[in-house]
Amino acid sequence: MAEPILTADETEPISARLKRTRNNWNQKVATFFDRLAPEWDARMVIDEAKLNFILDAAGVKKEAVVLDVACGTGVLFPYYLRRSVAQVIGVDISAEMARIAAQKVDDPRVEVICGDIETIPVRRRCDCCVVYNAFPHFEDPLRLVARLVRWLKPGGRLTVAHGMSLEALRRHHTGGAAHVSRAMLSVEELAAVLAPWFTVDTKIADREKYIVSGICSLDK
Ligand SMILES: C[S@@+](CC[C@H](N)C(=O)[O-])C[C@H]1O[C@@H](n2cnc3c(N)ncnc32)[C@H](O)[C@@H]1O
Repeated sequence: MAEPILTADETEPISARLKRTRNNWNQKVATFFDRLAPEWDARMVIDEAKLNFILDAAGVKKEAVVLDVACGTGVLFPYYLRRSVAQVIGVDISAEMARIAAQKVDDPRVEVICGDIETIPVRRRCDCCVVYNAFPHFEDPLRLVARLVRWLKPGGRLTVAHGMSLEALRRHHTGGAAHVSRAMLSVEELAAVLAPWFTVDTKIADREKYIVSGICSLDK
């Protein structure tokens, strides 16, 4: 006999059930990255040429207000600042990651928030929203993108990028991180997720990187 689709208490309101599921996922993600945080920077290998390509595609330039979604320990902060951005808001759900990120920079343009990007209040409308090396750790791509739209100015840009190929990415997330990862979408699939709000003008999946980027075409 097939498993019932709903096993939870049927008297529980659906909104409460959804919230609980989301909280369980976020709890697992936060715990997982709290554990990795102390070693994160030591293991980081940055290819500056590739990163600069990604930041160009993400529209990170002078005077931009940047939202770094799932900023981790803030590995991208120095690269944003080098481009003379106006402000960086880094958000991470792992308290340890956020703590290290906040400790690292002493620049009034950088603000680090520990929280779930899908539920924290929008602080400021941004020019660029960057999700770097983090997308598979979000439970529901459409729900995330719908939320990020609210952080962007009209004409702002959302970029989802990885410093590795799609194949490597998929392999990577079937290992020790499988319980906190969703299958990574192809660039076409992700572009379709963005399509209700964005004009997608960049879809790159090659041997060393993955980038999907688009301009917000709606005023919310
Ligand atoms: C693989 S790490 C990448 C960190 C950073 N972008 C980097 O490249 O070093 C993924 C990050 O996503 C964060 N994360 C996952 N879900 C999140 C959420 N709902 N809100 C904010 N951060 C989240 C995790 O805590 C973790 O630090």
